[in-house]
Amino acid sequence: MIAILDFGSQVSQLIARRVRECHVYSELLSSDITASELSKKNPSGIILSGSPWSVYDEGAPLIDRAILDLGIPVLGICYGMQLLVHLCGGKVERHVEKREFGTSSFTADTSSDLFVKIPESFTAWMSHGDSCATLPDQFSVIGETESLPHAAFECRAKRFYGVQFHPEVVHTEYGKDILKNFVLNICNAKQNWTMSRYIETECARIREIVGDRRVLLALSGGVDSTTVAALLHRAIGSQLTCMFIDQGFMRKNEAVDIVNEIGKYMKINLVHIDASELFFEKVRGIADPEQKRKAIGLEFISTFERESEKLGNFDFLAQGTLYPDVIESAVAGGTQSKSAVKIKTHHNVGGLPENMKFKLIEPLRMLFKDEVRMLARELGVHEDLVGRHPFPGPGLAIRIIGEVTREKVAILQNADAILIQELRRSGWYQQSWQALAVLLPVKSVGVMGDARTYGFTCALRVVSSEDAMTAVWTRLPYELLDKVSTRIVNEVPEITRVVFDITSKPPATIEWE
Ligand code: XMP
Repeated sequence: MIAILDFGSQVSQLIARRVRECHVYSELLSSDITASELSKKNPSGIILSGSPWSVYDEGAPLIDRAILDLGIPVLGICYGMQLLVHLCGGKVERHVEKREFGTSSFTADTSSDLFVKIPESFTAWMSHGDSCATLPDQFSVIGETESLPHAAFECRAKRFYGVQFHPEVVHTEYGKDILKNFVLNICNAKQNWTMSRYIETECARIREIVGDRRVLLALSGGVDSTTVAALLHRAIGSQLTCMFIDQGFMRKNEAVDIVNEIGKYMKINLVHIDASELFFEKVRGIADPEQKRKAIGLEFISTFERESEKLGNFDFLAQGTLYPDVIESAVAGGTQSKSAVKIKTHHNVGGLPENMKFKLIEPLRMLFKDEVRMLARELGVHEDLVGRHPFPGPGLAIRIIGEVTREKVAILQNADAILIQELRRSGWYQQSWQALAVLLPVKSVGVMGDARTYGFTCALRVVSSEDAMTAVWTRLPYELLDKVSTRIVNEVPEITRVVFDITSKPPATIEWE
């Protein structure tokens, strides 16, 4: 296991991913963990992450100094490197004027264990204001850039290493190989992190916790909850019951497809609740996006409570919480969640009230989204489900601007189905993160045949992204856009105009509401 002490860099999660890509388990830990807590986890190596802080800032996150005496190899990245230098008696310098962001040409001393089989010169991505001016005793330079004489160091005796650049980001050439050198050659970490092993240990853990009791899972048809279903089914079979609440805001035929597909590929106890009447009632007359989200979220909770009671007694509630959700709230050094402003009320099972009587089971809480997809494949989940785009809890309701009605949902379902069908046919579905159609309350004049038309406007949004935190609009071929637009106007009579959203995130969000 490799322990990553997080000082709140935007890219700390990437370090964990890169290490796991070497088949070595890694965990992001709060930077204020004590040496004795850390040694209980028995890590083979420690990585100190980057940070928005400077070591000289008041309140800058430090570490328990005794961690450096555990005899475990340490790699400091950016702030982590400066912190090592600072704590070991060297000197860090502030460059208020000479901050460095972006790529630099890095020259490596390839006789260092950190740079084995790495070319002498490569492009490295930097983001720092401070740098190491004087290295502590026994530390020697193993890399430089034009502006930084001490861009990397090693202390062979202690097995401490530091790099000023970020090896975890894709813009650093050979970054993954450098991390691999640290993890495998320097730390000798065991490569025992594979999905089949994960399934084995997780199933055993679930069986032990659950015993002969029953587990309830709210299934949405998305990849996360479907994977939880498949994993729990493997672990506890018929002790699992899944509940699918159809709010009436799903894509065209999707509710039926989900129930059929899941029934076909996994013989799971699945209860299908059609609650659409109630949900349409709750959103009637609401045009404000936040009010709409809240109304749907509250109705989801009460439907869930009411329907679960009918199914008898459950001790456990399973959820598809992912690792990024866990660490965002748990890591103390991580500043993002603390300073974050609420943009949208997210409605999903994570929003269930705390006073519910269930104990939680979250078998994906250690995984990233791409690992969930790997796990799903390993569990034999059908590729259609594995590759499905993310879909928001409130569904099409937040893609209908203004009041949501059954009629408008039907119109949007038809337009959306054409978009998705054409993307799938052309191969662009798999190449994009998410694709959606939005129904605008704007009407415009058109001409069809010899007649005047006056109908709704539909906006198409297709984005590429790694994690939905940022996204760019996908550069679809004009011919494809033309085909989708022509089909929508011809086949959905209520829509007379189609526009394409060319805004990235930020400044826009992916969903319109
Ligand atoms: P935004 O619109 O904030 O969306 O850029 C980021 C990602 O989150 C999805 N999304 C949701 N997912 N419940 C969810 O489970 C929600 O309420 C919700 N709202 C947005 C969105 O589709 C995108 O993938």
